[in-house]
Amino acid sequence: MLKVWLTRLTVLTTILAIVSNIYIFTYPSIFPSECSWRCSARKASLDAEDSLSALDRAILYTSRYLRDVSAQFSKVDGVKESRDRNQPSDVHLLALGDPQIKGIWPNTPYLSRLDTFGNDFYLGHIFSMMKKRLNPTHVAVMGDLFSSQWIGDSEFYNRTMRYTSRIFQRNVSVLENIKKESHDTNGQYQIDWVKFADDLGARLQQTPKKFDFGYEDVYSWDPVNEDYLFMNLTGNHDVGYSGDATYQHMARFQSLFGKDNYWIEYDRGTDHAWRIVVLNSMLLEGPPLQQELMDVTWEFLYRLFERRFEGSTILLTHVPFYKKEGICADSELFRYYPHDFQREPYKQNLLRSQNHLSQGTTKRVLNLIFDNHKPGIILTGHDHVGCETIYNKDDKTGEWSAAKAVTSTDFSVREITVRSMMGEFHGNSGLVTGQFNTKTKLWEWSFTLCPFSVQHIWWFTKVVTLLSGLLLSIRVFI
Ligand SMILES: *[C@@H]1O[C@H](CO)[C@@H](O)[C@H](O)[C@H]1NC(C)=O
Ligand SMILES: *[C@@H]1O[C@H](CO)[C@@H](O)[C@H](O)[C@H]1NC(C)=O
Ligand SMILES: *[C@@H]1O[C@H](CO)[C@@H](O)[C@H](O)[C@H]1NC(C)=O
Repeated sequence: MLKVWLTRLTVLTTILAIVSNIYIFTYPSIFPSECSWRCSARKASLDAEDSLSALDRAILYTSRYLRDVSAQFSKVDGVKESRDRNQPSDVHLLALGDPQIKGIWPNTPYLSRLDTFGNDFYLGHIFSMMKKRLNPTHVAVMGDLFSSQWIGDSEFYNRTMRYTSRIFQRNVSVLENIKKESHDTNGQYQIDWVKFADDLGARLQQTPKKFDFGYEDVYSWDPVNEDYLFMNLTGNHDVGYSGDATYQHMARFQSLFGKDNYWIEYDRGTDHAWRIVVLNSMLLEGPPLQQELMDVTWEFLYRLFERRFEGSTILLTHVPFYKKEGICADSELFRYYPHDFQREPYKQNLLRSQNHLSQGTTKRVLNLIFDNHKPGIILTGHDHVGCETIYNKDDKTGEWSAAKAVTSTDFSVREITVRSMMGEFHGNSGLVTGQFNTKTKLWEWSFTLCPFSVQHIWWFTKVVTLLSGLLLSIRVFI
């Protein structure tokens, strides 16, 4: 009797394990068009769907799924075509919204510890699926890499290690070497922020100020080992809002994640020039704790403007631009520390948090970046729900107004707030495709969102797989 039940249970868990594993390892094939770069041929084949019966639709979806799965398995692993400055090649940028990984503290309950541990691998699963499937040219994490700005250097370092190795499966030897150079007496990572502050002060004193914000034609930070470019953005949970952001925050972010403000120009001087602009929107408006940090961000924007770049722009930044209530989930909100804030008196009246950039800052930033009226796209994070907005420019006044549609005949640019990759928001990846239209001589930017599922399905798969392995091995012995 027991044996019969055991057999049944084994069969059941094994079937569940097989089905759920097939699901998590082929999930993008269920939404092949949302989970692929834009390609005109594929779009056309989807047009006729509306007029189908339920059965026909089921057949269509199943065959579409199976076709996509088989295409993935028969794909030869991506050797990227060699680049030629004089020939435009498509831009394939994978944008990942706000992972916000949590930490484990001595008083964290065991179940939450397990959850935090598993979550790293859930996020890692999404990235490795997307990378294998899509072979992106660029990957950008849209800020809020971590869940809190109020952590010490050692915890910041430990989360960076998890972020780098578990989620993005990258080589950590660079980080290990940084720790060898920069640690306290117990060997724990510690940033020398005083040196950073002195260095920054000295640069701001010079005329012209000595900053190095720009790159040209960089497709990988490490071309021998990697054929895509990985970018980390600052978020309020990484460095704080401007009322919180200290030299320490900025120094450790830059040492482990790279610059917070930079541009990369591609194919400058050709008819198909384009650029990426990474902007630290945490340090655009205040009142800030460290005025100097904000000065650097504005210095960056002025330098960018002075480049007089004749090409298209992808702007990557964490905090979305100003919009009226009702356009996206978050509406405008500014909070300031109270004037009698006792816990940290030095923060009195400073900027405590913001949902958007203010209307005035929005105007200044957009006019500095999109002054050449070439088609562009803005990607932001912060609001976990995700949103799409059009910024319409009025050339006479230089004002930009946010709407759901293009209303300006002068110029407009689309802002995509990338839905978060956290489990609660279904583990999304954002796909930006840039294609150069050789007839109009303009870049065309498109965006789709590829959802996975809540983290529980991933957990379920891991648990039934273990269980079925266990039951199968018990079954062999009795
Ligand atoms: C970071 O990790 C190291 C090595 O595992 C550990 O000794 C240290 O206590 C961790 N830091 C914190 C703040 O937990
Ligand atoms: C990581 O990089 C270092 C130095 O570039 C290299 O020696 C090491 O083998 C790499 N590790 C892996 C796992 O690729
Ligand atoms: C972003 O962070 C990862 C992990 O630390 C690192 O490998 C990568 O080089 C960083 N990107 C830049 C531009 O520094």
